[in-house]
Amino acid sequence: MNGEHIQNMLAEKGFIDEPVSTSVKLVEEINRLKKEKNAVILSHYYVDGELQDIADYVGDSLGLSQAAAETTADIIVFVGVHFMAETAKIINPTKKVILPDLKAGCSLADSAPADKFAAFKAQYPDHKVISYINCTADLKTLTDVICTSANAVKIVESFPKDQPLIFTPDKNLGNYINSITGREMVLWDGACMVHEKYSVEKIVDLMDEHPDAEFIAHPECEKPVLLLAKYIGSTTALLGYVQKSAAKKFIVATESGILHQMIKVCPDKIFIPAPSVDSTCGCNDCSYMKLNSLQKLYICLKHELPEIILPDDVIAKAQLPIRRMLEISK
Ligand code: 13P
Ligand code: SF4
Repeated sequence: MNGEHIQNMLAEKGFIDEPVSTSVKLVEEINRLKKEKNAVILSHYYVDGELQDIADYVGDSLGLSQAAAETTADIIVFVGVHFMAETAKIINPTKKVILPDLKAGCSLADSAPADKFAAFKAQYPDHKVISYINCTADLKTLTDVICTSANAVKIVESFPKDQPLIFTPDKNLGNYINSITGREMVLWDGACMVHEKYSVEKIVDLMDEHPDAEFIAHPECEKPVLLLAKYIGSTTALLGYVQKSAAKKFIVATESGILHQMIKVCPDKIFIPAPSVDSTCGCNDCSYMKLNSLQKLYICLKHELPEIILPDDVIAKAQLPIRRMLEISK
């Protein structure tokens, strides 16, 4: 049963869209329920600022999977997207993992259906498979090692130079890692709908308008965008960079949720979201991440639904490449 179907069923039964009285103090109630149920809230940098502020841990995909691996809580509430909650469940099969909105998917994960990838992989019997964590649990079962944008170079370099590799699903990150490591990994043709939509023309215009700004980008962006960047890194690396750099102004090519943390750590600096080809708001948001809300988080914690459920054999197989990544990233 797919996420959308389950979500619709829950909505029909009055969960998810349950009206919440305006007298309910959402932040207070979420914190009370969290304590009562021994739950932990893990939020990604791309969700709204109020959902980052209420989290026990806020971070990038690597940090969040490490936090999920270490938690002693009984319930993990993942304020992010489906593949992230699935990863937390795979690492913690005995814990309850819940996600405020099951429809919070990911275009990158959707771009690599496991059956199609299995046929692709069969053409390269000598190759090992590195999968970006932004993929389904089924794809993880076909993988040798998982990576995130924070540790991709390290993971690739953990293989001998003569080991042929397939990198999936993000061709942009794969291309970037090939250029850094000098490898020629075979790439699956997937991309993130947020990061592939940045407009080179609009970015160049913005750079002309703000000659004192540094342009920084996430490696999921396309090559022409990366070529313009002064610094390229994962969300955590970008956050670290803006603190170290002497510049006072930055044009940021990644989901705009990260700006919440950037403004927090550097209140005296200016952050401008890089424009997308079709954005009218001037920024570029992930519509899946933005499905999360305080109200949905409250309802999810109250009912402990919707829950991530995975077959035991998928968990057993998908756990190996994630554990390998966590081991190599220590
Ligand atoms: P990181 O969390 O690794 O920076 O990746 C960004 C992303 O696209 C998450 O969906
Ligand atoms: Fe997926 Fe891109 Fe959204 Fe990240 S930003 S969850 S990769 S669609």
